[in-house]
Amino acid sequence: YNLTVLISGNGSNLQALIDACAAGKLPARITHVISNRKAAYGLERAAKASPPIPTTYHNLVPYKKKHPATPEGTAAARTEYDADLSKLILDLEPRPDVIVCAGWMHILTPDFLNPISSAGVKVINLHPALPGEFAGAGAIERAWKAGREEGLTRTGVMIHEVIAEVDAGDAIVTEEVALREEETLEELEERIHGVEHGLIVEGTRRTLEKVGKGRAAKS
Ligand code: GRF
Repeated sequence: YNLTVLISGNGSNLQALIDACAAGKLPARITHVISNRKAAYGLERAAKASPPIPTTYHNLVPYKKKHPATPEGTAAARTEYDADLSKLILDLEPRPDVIVCAGWMHILTPDFLNPISSAGVKVINLHPALPGEFAGAGAIERAWKAGREEGLTRTGVMIHEVIAEVDAGDAIVTEEVALREEETLEELEERIHGVEHGLIVEGTRRTLEKVGKGRAAKS
């Protein structure tokens, strides 16, 4: 199976996928990595993989430049950016079976999701919270604060199917992470990222299994 991985930053989850593929733990290869940030260290990780993984920096700036800095202009820029992102991915050779959002910090609109799902390509996302909790950015810090201020005893991580509503698609796999008294945010982040690295491989594995079953049923 072929994977395209979307990143925005460090790429430690991308690295977990690279390592899992190399170790034969996933029946897949990562054929392309796309980042919405030029400085994303994950782009280096892709270039250093063996064999090196082709990368694309999909830059939002040219799209913003083509439109006025008004709410309508910004929306138009995002529509074109997302539509072009879907075209870029659907034109890849080979076309991915699954797109994995691994620390991808850009909300994917229907302008991206509609053409992708019409082409039968699945999109899954890592989110460092449990289903229905702390959707959106800063989830780990919000959970950490809830632990200190509201007595929340646990948070978690999930891999879920991507739909238009942010971090709200069906969960594929989840793992709870107990919150600890007096733990610093950095320590919690460390523990959560460790859980992410295992879950992103497991979530991708289960998704590929579903793709396989879907194909077998059709043949
Ligand atoms: C995840 O917690 C993600 O939600 C956030 O950063 C982590 C992914 O980091 N954006 P990485 O880029 O995979 O290392």
